[in-house]
Amino acid sequence: MKIFVLTGAGISAESGLGTFRDKDGVWTKYDLAEVATPEGFAKDPAKVRAFYNARRANLAGAAPNAAHFALARLAVELAARGDDLFLCTQNVDDLHEKAGSKRVIHMHGELAVTRCAHCQALRPDVGPLIAETACEACGRTGGARPHVVWFGETPLFMDEIEDALSEADLFVAIGTSGSVYPAAGFVAEARAMGIATCEINLEPSANAYVFDEKLYGPAGEVVPAWVERVLAAL
Ligand code: APR
Repeated sequence: MKIFVLTGAGISAESGLGTFRDKDGVWTKYDLAEVATPEGFAKDPAKVRAFYNARRANLAGAAPNAAHFALARLAVELAARGDDLFLCTQNVDDLHEKAGSKRVIHMHGELAVTRCAHCQALRPDVGPLIAETACEACGRTGGARPHVVWFGETPLFMDEIEDALSEADLFVAIGTSGSVYPAAGFVAEARAMGIATCEINLEPSANAYVFDEKLYGPAGEVVPAWVERVLAAL
């Protein structure tokens, strides 16, 4: 049994991290073109660094919720049976890891990693992004950016993701509005390959009509119950 799970901001909502498109979501407060595009960073890097520094500070105080822990448990239980969970997240938070998930594919990058815009070197970093800090790899200053995939940039690990999707027996999307491609297209790809699909969300997403099964409610309640049901059926 190979299960492909795609998570979005909704799985971290109950941990206190804002989603993007809900009412009073992140994109209702900030212009994404200014803070989440390469053009925005080129135009006003200080504004972009301040935006991500605020999100890093928010992340420092956030804890995983029951949904994150349930997925970490599912991976262990499946592996014990020779089955597999492929956990792909659109989230840049580290709550899956904090809940114990070992293999997390961050297709939109990671907030707690700093990338040098000059040489692309990466380093784990929960502190503020500071322009004057010289890159440890190339020695240049002014390049510190979050290792986050901005709009117009290419998501990460797409070959690995497509391989895992093609081998899945079940595709499950959790806490995502189905607004941003290529992630939003995964369910249609799965369906075209005859793979069973399930949506777990607070409310129907833009892709709801594509899913075979739909479970609605807070992820912290619905995901643990769904994991129990999957394990009982193995
Ligand atoms: N439990 C389950 N689902 C929830 C909860 C909750 N407690 N709270 C909100 N949701 C759902 C919302 O109904 C919504 O469908 O989570 C979804 C969040 O959607 P978005 O805010 O659009 O977040 P996401 O789908 O992850 O965005 C995708 O867009 O901004 C970019 O790169 C960013 O990764 C992000 C991508």
